[in-house]
Amino acid sequence: MIKFDFNTYNNFSIDNYDLTNLENKFVNDNMYTDWYNLEIDTKKIKECAKEVRNDADVFIVLGIGGSSLGAQAVICALKPYFDNKKPEILFVGTSLSTDYITNLLEYIKGKSIYINFISKSGSTFETVLTYNILLDYMKQNYSDYSNRIIITSANKELLEKSQKEGYRIFEMSENTVGRFSVLSVVGLFPIAVAGFDIDRLICGALSAKEDKQNVYKYTCIRNKMLNCNKFVESFDVYEPKLYYFTEWLKQLFGETQGKNNSGILPVSTVNTRDLHSLGQFYQEGNPIIFSTAIFAKSSNNLMIEKYNSSLDNINSVALYSVLESRYNHMNTNLIVMDGIDEYNLGYLIFFFERSAMLGSFLLNINYYDQPGVNGYKKIMSSKLNG
Ligand code: PA5
Repeated sequence: MIKFDFNTYNNFSIDNYDLTNLENKFVNDNMYTDWYNLEIDTKKIKECAKEVRNDADVFIVLGIGGSSLGAQAVICALKPYFDNKKPEILFVGTSLSTDYITNLLEYIKGKSIYINFISKSGSTFETVLTYNILLDYMKQNYSDYSNRIIITSANKELLEKSQKEGYRIFEMSENTVGRFSVLSVVGLFPIAVAGFDIDRLICGALSAKEDKQNVYKYTCIRNKMLNCNKFVESFDVYEPKLYYFTEWLKQLFGETQGKNNSGILPVSTVNTRDLHSLGQFYQEGNPIIFSTAIFAKSSNNLMIEKYNSSLDNINSVALYSVLESRYNHMNTNLIVMDGIDEYNLGYLIFFFERSAMLGSFLLNINYYDQPGVNGYKKIMSSKLNG
């Protein structure tokens, strides 16, 4: 269960937050609605994941941006902190670091490796470059390498070629939007390989779809804050496992709404660590920031005798102390989860995706493109290709 509180630590109340017409317009007029419809057949995903799980020491998710952040957010949130269960899941293809790739090739030597290449376009530079290096490695080291490669893409030519090579394929719909794809085959397959219940994730998302009030309220409050010169939203978590969830949020809101000289800059903190760094700025610095705090209760019980209190309770005392101490300087939307599980994560994923989409309609911004990302690509390509 998840509780939303947009009032207690927030001066920005709003009376009218009905976005039904706007949402209906999206449903009726927009072609990029796959993520919203949540019509996913998980059977093939689960079958293939089971096979990979049985044999892989290391499962490499090869993608960037929306092609990998969602799965990383969910897997990192759900897995124990210190875990050496197989398969180990690695997220690769997110940099051009020579050291990273060199170390990776050393690290995977002698292990049973499976690779999931994920790219809607099939042509993203970092993904393709890393894939070619790993493909050479696989060819050199496994006679059954074709059985170890899974391609997820919407690029028909690539899918056909891959099938001819004997790789397994998952076809993405043309209507998939990368950063909204975690509850499609893009995110669900790696999450299933990691051993988590993808049907529960979807179940959580379907429940979130029933809850219009909270998402409409949150979306309108964000919009009002932007209009009042609150240009930065900080997603603050008190559970380090949620770090990649905030990375996913940053991409979701950054790429969806950061256009036309508008949008709110999404940043994040992991507390209580960052109370000792950015906390100072938040408390007394330039008041352009508002916060959306996401607190997750723990299912473990660790008593701290000195305070006659559980550590989980102490963590929540820290949260409420922060909210109280900042109240006059910074507004906070509060989201409390009764635990980190598939259902709650699915719920939050859909909640934030829907808000990012609705918020971009309020700003009159195209929600599914990211033209600015191409800027560096074009220059880089002309430098490399002459
Ligand atoms: O959200 C998006 O659409 C982007 O972040 C893409 O996911 C990212 O650029 C990767 O693109 P592709 O899946 O084509 O490799």
